[in-house]
Amino acid sequence: MREHAERSVALVRERLGDFEPKLGIILGSGLDAVADGVTEAKSVPYTELQGFPQPTVEGHSGALVVGRLGGVATAVLRGRSHVYESGRSDAMRVPLETLRRLGCETLLLTNAAGSLMPYAAPGSLALVTDHIGIGLPNPLMGEVSATRFLDMVDAYDPSIRRTLGAAAHRLGIHLHQGVYMWFGGPSFETPAEIRAAKNFGADLVGMSTVPEVIIARFLGYRVAAISVVTNFAAGLAEDPLSHEHTVQVAGAAAKHLTRLLEESVEQIVQKGR
Ligand code: HPA
Repeated sequence: MREHAERSVALVRERLGDFEPKLGIILGSGLDAVADGVTEAKSVPYTELQGFPQPTVEGHSGALVVGRLGGVATAVLRGRSHVYESGRSDAMRVPLETLRRLGCETLLLTNAAGSLMPYAAPGSLALVTDHIGIGLPNPLMGEVSATRFLDMVDAYDPSIRRTLGAAAHRLGIHLHQGVYMWFGGPSFETPAEIRAAKNFGADLVGMSTVPEVIIARFLGYRVAAISVVTNFAAGLAEDPLSHEHTVQVAGAAAKHLTRLLEESVEQIVQKGR
């Protein structure tokens, strides 16, 4: 794992020079367009980076892009691997280690999610305040160090959340907030599972993010996550759920997300100093 990350860092430096990104961003399904907001962009496809997952999902292009977003030196992971693709919850470990070694101290994760909040309709954005990862094989399993007993209180950095909330307010973007519950997928949840999720305290459901947040906190990143609501969760609306629909709605909301990130990233990375 470590060797893969070291080789990837060397290759990225060889290709992209001594550029030192401060901020890492993971783009979720259908949110690829956010990378278009990166200026002076240079990219390396995952196929050339050892230990990087090869995305198999439509809406995930599979490249590391570095450049400037809202004035901040940024590395964007254009596409992620989900547990349902490989059965592994640590599939994003090498990309996250690579970004950390390149200099990233803060990680912003984005995802497409189903909403359990009646007022958070498809197309809206929601800030993740906490998560529920019941059933997830913990990505730190097999780690042999005292730090594996990771404190997950305030895993979603309260000060970054405040910054994002204030930026959304300035832009007139309604930013909902809620607890994100991980489901393994790739089938969507049943209505009964969504009722159970509601009882557990979930506001959003999705198939990503939680394993990455655990890895990122382990690696010492400050973390925040934003969901793009693509649908009401199973049983809460008439429309059938599909990945095509997810990608389409996320794509339409990507421009709001890009504006929100451009408005806030400078302040987000400064707070980390
Ligand atoms: N469930 C799980 N993952 C999702 C959903 C959902 O309703 N929408 C987008 N990703």
